Amino acid sequence: MTQITTVATQPIAGQKPGTSGLRKKTPVFMGRHYLENFVQSIFDVVGAAGKTFVLGGDGRYFNDRAAQVILRMAAANGAARVIVGQGAILSTPAASHLIRLNKTDGGIIMSASHNPGGPNEDFGVKFNMPNGGPAPEGVTEAMFQRTTEITEYKVLEAHDVDLSVVGRHQLGSMVVDVVDPVADYAALMESLFDFPAIRAMFAGGFRMRMDSMCAVTGPYAIEILENRLGAEAGTVVNGTPLPDFGGMHPDPNPTWAKALMDEMFGSAAPDFGAASDGDGDRNMVVGRGIYVSPSDSLAVLAANAHLAPGYAKGLKGVARSMPTSAAADRVADALGIAKFETPTGWKFFGNLLDAGKATICGEESFGTGSDHVREKDGLWAVLLWLNILAVRKQSVADILAEHWAKYGRNYYSRHDFEAIETAKADAMMTALRGSLASLRGRQIEGMTISAADDFAYTDPVDGSVSQKQGVRVLFDDGSRIVYRLSGTGTEGATLRVYLERYAPGPGGLDLDAQVALAPVIRAAHDLAGISGHTGRTAPDVVT
Ligand code: G1P
Ligand code: ZN
Repeated sequence: MTQITTVATQPIAGQKPGTSGLRKKTPVFMGRHYLENFVQSIFDVVGAAGKTFVLGGDGRYFNDRAAQVILRMAAANGAARVIVGQGAILSTPAASHLIRLNKTDGGIIMSASHNPGGPNEDFGVKFNMPNGGPAPEGVTEAMFQRTTEITEYKVLEAHDVDLSVVGRHQLGSMVVDVVDPVADYAALMESLFDFPAIRAMFAGGFRMRMDSMCAVTGPYAIEILENRLGAEAGTVVNGTPLPDFGGMHPDPNPTWAKALMDEMFGSAAPDFGAASDGDGDRNMVVGRGIYVSPSDSLAVLAANAHLAPGYAKGLKGVARSMPTSAAADRVADALGIAKFETPTGWKFFGNLLDAGKATICGEESFGTGSDHVREKDGLWAVLLWLNILAVRKQSVADILAEHWAKYGRNYYSRHDFEAIETAKADAMMTALRGSLASLRGRQIEGMTISAADDFAYTDPVDGSVSQKQGVRVLFDDGSRIVYRLSGTGTEGATLRVYLERYAPGPGGLDLDAQVALAPVIRAAHDLAGISGHTGRTAPDVVT
């Protein structure tokens, strides 16, 4: 027996989805009506009657319970069908692919991405559109509006759906299709990359380490790398998704993927290393004894993508977020293709990909992807690197050295100052914005400021304008400082300072990035008065 119940509720403050959906501490999400209010607001805005959605998440704590609630609510709101990953698991790129492959009306992804998971850590819910990409601001804003006026939600009274086995179930009048979370995604990867060449490389003794950080990519990486490409068993470590990610912080950067970094810089380092985040959209790649910054990775992938069958015809354009280094721009110029500079956040790439203006996109925050889905895609980047390595038959270090010699090197680093009191961070940004007009022409650390502004973006496809996307300070020697506050943090404010310096190649190319950037770092502290405003003299995380 199933019955639709309408439950009286009232608005809950602070259900405002950010660039990556609604993210809160897990106990908040588990609070009375909290998840239900937001899910009902989603359905009220996009409509559920007769529609088909995809549902899955990164397996973090509450993922399984939330999936059952969302299924019952989808059924009560009249959805015709929900395609859900077995065990309620889907990586974000796999969810994006399923939304597109099945021509559905969108999907709900349960994840707080790279934020830790567990009873007292983070949880999140986001809605993706029928194109497979995150809902644009107009839609998330409408969802937020809805949370401020909601008075009731609908839920089906029913038992849990068995999500542990693949197959079809009926939930009220809605069909629930439990699908293998990996199969369709793996097939997509096989259609893009030269699997025989990569397989031959592994068969020839090439060794790799993939750290899935106890998060969602484990099953994907084991199936693709070990089963299909023949990497030796044990190549994938931390390959079982755990509700608390095994206590790890599943953010693939040198700080949080330290074990991988240690291995790659140790005496027994394999040829290639990679890690991905909680929901599988981020990636970090490392060569033996050499770290590849995400900005450089984007540039190398853009320069070599034609070596993979899926991109053999060349790229239409390359897009990067504004704080990402200009390394990819140099490749686009050399290839004679379009280049785009967008605000931070993957959703700004969606229009460019949909319109066929860009093929490959990337962010400095370990996000890289292409028009094969509408999310960034960690394993995709790893596989494109493997494809390039298999064709060029060179080490990562040699590929980077040749790249820098040809295009010059954009030294790059991001310094994060976390959990700052929000009022203090806001005051610092306000003061900085107020000083912009007076910065031009000022000399500091032997450099002259050539321009300073607050980045604004006009979408070349729909003409929409996004203001105040980060303060940029540009120097006459090509150096650059960007300041912005994180939109994804859950505690206080996180100040991100992005630092860049260009060295034309070849020659002078082998400095440590922090050493090369030292004057830019000093200038960044000085210009914004970081310690005066926030009391912080050193960053918490350096990437
Ligand atoms: C961060 C990254 C940004 C990325 C987003 C979602 O956002 O900086 O590039 O798109 O996570 O993964 P932020 O916290 O800086 O707003
Ligand atoms: Zn993520």
